[in-house]
Amino acid sequence: MYDDHNREAEGRLVMKLSDGRELPVEMWKTRIVQKINLVPVADRLKAIEEGGYNTFLMKSNVIFLDMLTDSGVNAMSDNQLAAWMNSDDCYAGSMTFYEFEKAVQDVLGLKYVMNVHQGRAAEHLIPKVFSKPGDIVPTNFHFTTTRAHIEILQCTMPEIYKDEAMNTASKYPFKGEMDPEKLNAIIKKNGAKKIAFVRMEATTNLMGGQPFSMANLKEIKEICVKNKIMMVLDGSLMCENAYMIREREKGYENKTVAQIVKEMCSVPDLYYMSGRKNTCVRGGCIATNNEEIFLKIKPWLPVYEGFFTYGGMSQREVGMMAVGIREMVDPDLAGATVRQIKFGIDKLVAAGVPVVTPPGGLGIHVDAGKFLPHVPHNEYPAGALCAALYIASGIRSMERGTVSMDRTPDGVERMSELELCRLACPRRVYSQSQIEYAIDRLTWLHKNKKLIKGLKFTYEPPVLRFFLGKLAPIDNWGEKLAAAYKKEMGPV
Ligand code: F0G
Repeated sequence: MYDDHNREAEGRLVMKLSDGRELPVEMWKTRIVQKINLVPVADRLKAIEEGGYNTFLMKSNVIFLDMLTDSGVNAMSDNQLAAWMNSDDCYAGSMTFYEFEKAVQDVLGLKYVMNVHQGRAAEHLIPKVFSKPGDIVPTNFHFTTTRAHIEILQCTMPEIYKDEAMNTASKYPFKGEMDPEKLNAIIKKNGAKKIAFVRMEATTNLMGGQPFSMANLKEIKEICVKNKIMMVLDGSLMCENAYMIREREKGYENKTVAQIVKEMCSVPDLYYMSGRKNTCVRGGCIATNNEEIFLKIKPWLPVYEGFFTYGGMSQREVGMMAVGIREMVDPDLAGATVRQIKFGIDKLVAAGVPVVTPPGGLGIHVDAGKFLPHVPHNEYPAGALCAALYIASGIRSMERGTVSMDRTPDGVERMSELELCRLACPRRVYSQSQIEYAIDRLTWLHKNKKLIKGLKFTYEPPVLRFFLGKLAPIDNWGEKLAAAYKKEMGPV
């Protein structure tokens, strides 16, 4: 297992080539494989039509590279599978839970922990216990399920990022930072009592996996302490944030990812994570060093999730997550995605394809607003680009723009400031050549962008509409794109 004190051994995954280039090299070998298939473009057109131009509604047997998400689809390690076999299956008092608790104490430095079945279960429990209707939950950036839970409780979730965050072509290294002045202004206007808690997300998913700096996290905490407001950290993508702190923040260059993760976890009052990302396992947890906060949540766990020592997970998953917590701070894992994404972003920038910079965690984010300037905002450019990418490549990406925004409680459509097509990079899953393929097809699409037009809803669900909503292409552009692709690139 990874030795978290050996800083010198880290950073191996960036191999310097003899011609001066840098190559992200995978620090693992593949021992189990799953066959994937690239169906002909005619079948891809049919499949996206059947899926209502929504990549969520497609069956996986027509997907070549599944870059929809990095959630629950990461490659597990040999040690995690061993933990699956070794787990102690029992409803109450499982020793596997206590192994998990120990891993959280060792790696995150947090004493009290409970499992939940996945991240959104924590997002359900925390505001249920700590907010009341009319409260405010300021955040550096919202996540879809987080905001849904806050709004169901009739609270609001203002996003108080720095102005630079919405500049997709930025060089600012920490676009995920919260703006302290804007936080102070919200507190001043509404009074600290109206703030249920302040939420920081590491890294900010919907902004393109952008990190915050440790200095910013601590500055925001100071404001919270001064105003007696609880700070909650969503650490679902925390290890990539820690890796980028090490790469980008002065004073952290000689620290290990493990040290940075522990320091980060020492700042908030309450921590939660989806385990489906950094720990590569279906599950999640809530953890804190504050016993009083913990005891307020604990009685609700058996009501919504399950008994205290499994929290909606199977013991097998708890065991795998215990190993995943220890492995996630290994820079060969935490940094691999960051490196792979950087490789893709650098090449796309060189090819003139508009992408979110600087490279972040989670995935390659294409700026669909700039990619398709001729598609009006209310015709969902990001949704259109995701559908087009599937037609031209068999790659499944995810819309992270206006389709992913639910209407306001009054039914008004919320236009997303960012229109992103996200190609998630699940951990240890796709190879360099597969990333090269994705870059090539995006570049081809960019040259043929005029063929892509907008979308309109044919079915719109009342909540989290991006999951089950169906859309149709304006002017049948899917057929025209597929025909152009076939003419130039062949039937597959
Ligand atoms: N917080 C963040 C930052 C997330 O990225 C996610 C999930 C959640 C909370 C919810 O966790 O899925 O385990 O219930 N993100 C996934 C994605 C769904 O595709 O980006 P969950």
